[in-house]
Amino acid sequence: VSLRPGAFRGRSLLAPGDCTPEEWDALLALAARGKREGLPAACTGQRLVNLFAAPSLRTRVSMELAMGELGGTAVSLTPGADAWTLETRDGAVMDGAAPEHVREAAGALGAMAHGLAVRSFPVTPDPAAELEDVVLHAYARHAGVPVTNLESPSAHPMQALADALTLREVLGTTVGQPVLLTWAPHVKRLPLAVPLSFLHAAAVCGCAIRVAAPAGWALPASRLSALRALAESRGGSLATTTDQAAAADGVRVVYAKSWAPTAPEAGDMDRRWMVDAALMARTRGAAFLHCLPVRRNVVVADAVLDSPAARVAQLAGNRLHTARAWLYAWLGTDR
Ligand code: CP
Repeated sequence: VSLRPGAFRGRSLLAPGDCTPEEWDALLALAARGKREGLPAACTGQRLVNLFAAPSLRTRVSMELAMGELGGTAVSLTPGADAWTLETRDGAVMDGAAPEHVREAAGALGAMAHGLAVRSFPVTPDPAAELEDVVLHAYARHAGVPVTNLESPSAHPMQALADALTLREVLGTTVGQPVLLTWAPHVKRLPLAVPLSFLHAAAVCGCAIRVAAPAGWALPASRLSALRALAESRGGSLATTTDQAAAADGVRVVYAKSWAPTAPEAGDMDRRWMVDAALMARTRGAAFLHCLPVRRNVVVADAVLDSPAARVAQLAGNRLHTARAWLYAWLGTDR
């Protein structure tokens, strides 16, 4: 299916599942076409505001460049740095640091733009609350225009689109191909957004997915069962293990990411889970992928990141091509 400009106009993209697998196929085909030959300036006259409640390098640059290439205008704001600090709690007595509430800010930005794109994650101490993306949904309720999620505690759909495009480039035919998502150590407890979104991408691609994580650091069972059903519907599978080394045997892609535990009693991070040359040697010449930013010699060893197996720059570059495809379908016009 070829997507026309504005095919998804009026819709929000808050999680990868807001697009059907068939729509994913169409977006990925559009992204691949745009990567080869560019796309028409379908967003001329369209205005996008990107709001970043947490820092960004790839997401901000890809959204701004893609909107510019499509002929539109993008403005990026960082509340608390170059824009007002925003209160997010409903019913708050606003006598603290934040002079503006998300309700008014979202409404004001929505009154000026055709679309609002929001990065809204702090990691909460409550894994259950983290899955609800409360702040993102507040923006979506109050903006009056559609919202694209630029990473919330539980979802990073724009990263997922780039993950899927890269899987297709690396693997060619993706159905049934073994790929590993491995938990990795980190100095902080990070959100679930990227691992869950990568799994959505790999499931849409019909991969034979293995998820490795230490005991106590498993991803939420409810999400895993939905992702397993999606993978199976696309000809793939999803299995979990606590044995990282065995899980690497024969895989064609290793995707590393740290995430916070679902069991609050989980202990200190286990540095032995860093991806190193010994782990990669167990694979079938696997590509190493990470969404970036990545901490060298904590998440992954220099020997892997500096080897030809590392395809992290290719993945980051694909953020531009998938952002362009999404913006074309989301804010494009047929005029
Ligand atoms: N992968 C990713 O979202 O990168 P940034 O945090 O730099 O945007």
